[in-house]
Amino acid sequence: MTTATSRLPGFYKLKVAERLRRLAEALELDKGDLEGLGTPATLPMPSADAMIENAIGVLGLPVGLGLNFVVNGEEVLVPMAVEEPSVIAAASLAARIARGGGGFLADADPALMIGQVQIAGAPDLEAARAAVLSRRAEVLAAADAIHPAMAARGGGARDLEARIVEGDLVVHLIVDTQDAMGANLINTMCEGVAPLLASIAGGRARLRILSNLADRRLARASCRIPLADLADFGLAGEEVARGIADASRFADADPYRACTHNKGVMNGVDAVALATGNDWRAIEAGAHAWAARDGRYRPLTRWWIEGGHLCGRAELPIQVGTVGGAVKANPLVPVLLRILGNPGARKLAAIMAAVGLAQNMAALRALGTVGIQKGHMALHARSLAVSAGARGAAVEQVARALVAAGEIKLHRAQQILAELIRNTPALEAS
Ligand code: MEV
Repeated sequence: MTTATSRLPGFYKLKVAERLRRLAEALELDKGDLEGLGTPATLPMPSADAMIENAIGVLGLPVGLGLNFVVNGEEVLVPMAVEEPSVIAAASLAARIARGGGGFLADADPALMIGQVQIAGAPDLEAARAAVLSRRAEVLAAADAIHPAMAARGGGARDLEARIVEGDLVVHLIVDTQDAMGANLINTMCEGVAPLLASIAGGRARLRILSNLADRRLARASCRIPLADLADFGLAGEEVARGIADASRFADADPYRACTHNKGVMNGVDAVALATGNDWRAIEAGAHAWAARDGRYRPLTRWWIEGGHLCGRAELPIQVGTVGGAVKANPLVPVLLRILGNPGARKLAAIMAAVGLAQNMAALRALGTVGIQKGHMALHARSLAVSAGARGAAVEQVARALVAAGEIKLHRAQQILAELIRNTPALEAS
């Protein structure tokens, strides 16, 4: 079930209960289907206790909806879990601007993960390498025998590579993990085939673990936005687009800038990873290693102007699953995946690439023109208002007063709230 539209104008102004009603309506679901959303503790303590060692509590994180996304012609509502106030607003704004050019095109490679088996002490590395490759079919069959269910689902071991790395033979087992992220599967297979590989190579098996440099599992997104759709801040669309393209050139030329540029991309990617129960550290590690693949750290996206349009493109490894332990351990994750239309892993990765591109566009659009702080501070003011103790309508009132005062600080929020309560005693009780 996907949504008829991801445009939900005024969604941010609604109360949470009303947002859930609108969401259920948009997805043609019963409100019960969204159970767990809108309640403070979505991860029951027994589940938390079963997930990790030494559990003592559950840390809450807001989950919101990235709106306005059209990906490959499909309207998508994107659940995002993130603590940074501006992230969801920025992604939704960029997605709205991109709609004029048809939204985003996106795709992802099949879920090919790489498992590494390090073999030390082989007496003749070249001969060991040739011997391992000559027994490719036997090794792949041995790997598949360890996890027949994956082969039955159409996945399984696909290929073998052998590299000589600093005196060791390093064998790569390439496995199609289908809709799973695949870490456990790959690790089990690597451990399972390691004795066979070691005996073929005449060495000792050492490390047997997946590589998070998932460069066989790239996701891509692109968009093409008519320049006129970018007009804002009293500037012509072409001027705004030039700011974005110049920012892109800067990131391409300077690793110091590329790092922050990519942080902006990952703001979006990670928020979807978290909301869908995926391992965002794996995605982060893979993305940054890939960004430095030619020996120089580079941006994960590019922007340029062509034929009256601002064009953008993102490409990065995105190793995610929509089935498997971690995805199902949190009872809220299936609900959030349902909002996304229950995608498989490839489709989820493609959507995430589109979200990363949108997130990056929003950041560059502000940075290349009026600066980022204006928008950030307005949103930061709301979280300061909450930290100061404001609730309900008082949050907006305190936030607005903070912005007007030009001093977005906690102590100022506390003063403003105290004043508000003095003038409106009913507020104290709310
Ligand atoms: C902040 O979370 C992300 C940005 O720094 C990204 C960027 O500089 O491109 C705004």
